[in-house]
Amino acid sequence: MDNTYDRLVRSDRDHHIHPFSSPRRVREEGLRRLTVRTEGVYQVDNHGNRYIDAVSGLACVNIGYGREDMADAISQAIRTISFHPVFWECSNPYSAALVEKLNEVTPEYMTHFFFANSGSEANDTAIKLVRWFWKLQGKPEKKHIISREMAYHGMNLLTASLTGLEPCHPQFDLPIAGVSHIMAPWSWVHGTHQQDEAFGRQAAQALEDEILRIGADRVGAFIGEPTQATGCGISPPPGYWPEIERICRKHDVLLIADEVVTGFGRSGEWFAQQYFGFEADITVMAKGLSSAYFPVSAVALNQRVGGAITGDSGELYHGYTTSCHPVGAVAAVKNIEIIQQERLVERIRDELGPALESGLKALESHPLVGEVRGIGLGWAIQLTANKETREFFPPELGVDAMVAAHAYEKGVIIRDLGGDTLGVSPPFVTTDEQLVQILDAIEYGLDAAQRELGGIPDR
Ligand SMILES: Cc1ncc(COP(=O)(O)O)c(C=O)c1O
Repeated sequence: MDNTYDRLVRSDRDHHIHPFSSPRRVREEGLRRLTVRTEGVYQVDNHGNRYIDAVSGLACVNIGYGREDMADAISQAIRTISFHPVFWECSNPYSAALVEKLNEVTPEYMTHFFFANSGSEANDTAIKLVRWFWKLQGKPEKKHIISREMAYHGMNLLTASLTGLEPCHPQFDLPIAGVSHIMAPWSWVHGTHQQDEAFGRQAAQALEDEILRIGADRVGAFIGEPTQATGCGISPPPGYWPEIERICRKHDVLLIADEVVTGFGRSGEWFAQQYFGFEADITVMAKGLSSAYFPVSAVALNQRVGGAITGDSGELYHGYTTSCHPVGAVAAVKNIEIIQQERLVERIRDELGPALESGLKALESHPLVGEVRGIGLGWAIQLTANKETREFFPPELGVDAMVAAHAYEKGVIIRDLGGDTLGVSPPFVTTDEQLVQILDAIEYGLDAAQRELGGIPDR
């Protein structure tokens, strides 16, 4: 088998263009990791090493890897209906069952669902539906979309434009016209903290300023992740989202919540809208929908938007071959049933979330840590060169990658998010013991990085 792995690694090095990777690094240093097996919260590499995946793949494998119940449900679907389109007024019991399930677990105001295959496709769909909705209202000029700096909404031409991470734009001459970005509620860089409600209102005010600058009659929607994952794990103060909602309503701008990461429990509520106390017109779901057992995503519309689009509006010229694929649909339904049966959302809210929070908060006394922030099972550790002045490390030091590499030596995968930030988003099925291992490995990583930087932690 080892020879096979060697051959595969060589072929991969020579022919595979990896997303978000340096082709030169792959060419010169080879793969960082060849995972040959996944089970529970673990990834096993080709040398037999087991790692706790404390980032759930890409914040998506919420129910853990390699579950027999998922495998059984998926293989049964393949044996029964391996594919069937939902085009042309058709469906099948698996796809229809997903609609029924979503109707059950989503808040009542989400009344209509459209399906795609990835978060990017779902966000792209959301923006197309915004355009169609406003046309149906006789306001075709309401097309401009306001997003935020540091946002991550995907990688299509449009969704990469909505994404507010600067490195994602120049290679492709983005953002495209008709998209603008307001400040992110990143309290750390504004000298305050995640609980500062006044700062939350100030950050939300940036939306109203931008609507007035563009003209409310030209703005179709505002899009945001309730709490950010990729964008340095920015988590807004408590009053931020209700204020954003108030501003959207005041100016009749649609509110899109990108719940690709937060949907289906990560916040400790089924949807982070419920955690923060607001109601979006359009909600985008992907990763958490099927725990990435199969690519499936969805756009949920409220009655105002869904009712208009399903009213007397003619044929909808939009869709993907594998929209609501029966195998994806059964993966999503089974995933949701597991979350319900194992009471995983309640466990995050009452046990796992608070335990992770207090374990991470204890690390705030570490010399390298400025703050930790997050909700539920989605957290970020903000590193800093100076706790008082909140100075960033020189980027070339890659201190976040350094800490992650040392935690990896201890058998735990965490994610360096850039901006001196580490992401920690473990699976919902992480045990208390595994949580302790994760926290120990992070502490080890911080100490080792501190030594590497030339200072022994004075604790
Ligand atoms: C909040 C959010 N939206 C959208 C996306 C894009 O999803 P996909 O990679 O499935 O296109 C991501 C991916 O990380 C995400 O985190």
